[in-house]
Amino acid sequence: MSQIENALALKNGALVAFPTETVYGLGADASNEKAVARIYEVKGRPQDHPLILHIASMDDITYWATAVSDYAIALANKYWPGPMTLIFNRSENAKDFVTGGQNTVGLRVPNHALALELLQECKKIGVYAIAAPSANRFGHVSPTTAVAVQEEIGAYLSAQDLILDGGPAQVGLESTIIDCTGDAPKILRPGAITQAMIEEATGMKVSEVNDSQIRVSGSLEKHYAPNAKVILNAQASEGEGFIAPADVATPPGAIRLASPANTDEYARALYSALRDGDAQGLETIAIIQPSGDGLAIAIRDRLMRASKGR
Ligand code: TXA
Ligand code: MG
Repeated sequence: MSQIENALALKNGALVAFPTETVYGLGADASNEKAVARIYEVKGRPQDHPLILHIASMDDITYWATAVSDYAIALANKYWPGPMTLIFNRSENAKDFVTGGQNTVGLRVPNHALALELLQECKKIGVYAIAAPSANRFGHVSPTTAVAVQEEIGAYLSAQDLILDGGPAQVGLESTIIDCTGDAPKILRPGAITQAMIEEATGMKVSEVNDSQIRVSGSLEKHYAPNAKVILNAQASEGEGFIAPADVATPPGAIRLASPANTDEYARALYSALRDGDAQGLETIAIIQPSGDGLAIAIRDRLMRASKGR
């Protein structure tokens, strides 16, 4: 189907799962209360968790947001389309049912040709944003392929809903979330747009994210998690899954799920490796985390949450 037809489906209230460069999203017309309510049902997500609004370009910021600061414009100019969500004070168009009742709204222009075409067609017919969380059940691993979306939520979708296939996600990890409502940008969730990149674009000092800082809602409980138990920085025993940088040897009898050669590859491979472990029915996956800063911080952030509780 063309993006014109997919845009019409959204306009008519369908849910449309679509690819982005980070992970796949489960989309609805951001102004359609009923359609947005179905996102929460399909995900099994609490109602007070806000959704990210995906927009076609920077021009659409002011439809959804007010009091947009210069540093936020600088960020949008430099890194959109891209793996970055900016949090603004909302305009009257961003209703409680997409912001979870908060006075702020998260906006992102995704860097994926299919998603951008879909957003442009949407705009032509009066759909000014696609509200979309990651297309997984609440607390689970985000999908990075259309097949993974089908496995996660296919059973919860209705006949009019669609899953678009745009190939494997190129980044593989959710966007960096930056609070732009204050005097300086604040990182709420680390991602591929790093602290150094934000400082470069804005010329401002950005409060450092470290592995123990967690601010985005829902982030204290277990999240981004496979069914298998995740243990960090331990060697795998026989029969356990193992994810580690390529230069770390596989322990005897362990089942190697990924051997990324660098940090970018690690981000791209991680979620499908966790899914693969579940598909194999593994009870435990041992993971050696990547070292360093930048994107490695984001990977360790997700792994730390994936390893919480059970
Ligand atoms: O890369 C991504 O960001 C993907 C793709 C689909 O764009 N989306 C994504 O959405 O990861 P989701 O809903 O799974 O995670 C978004 C996070 C949530 O933890 C939510 O609480 C937070 O963003 N968020 C959204 N709007 C917010 C707001 N106004 N203030 C604070 N946090 C917000
Ligand atoms: Mg999510």
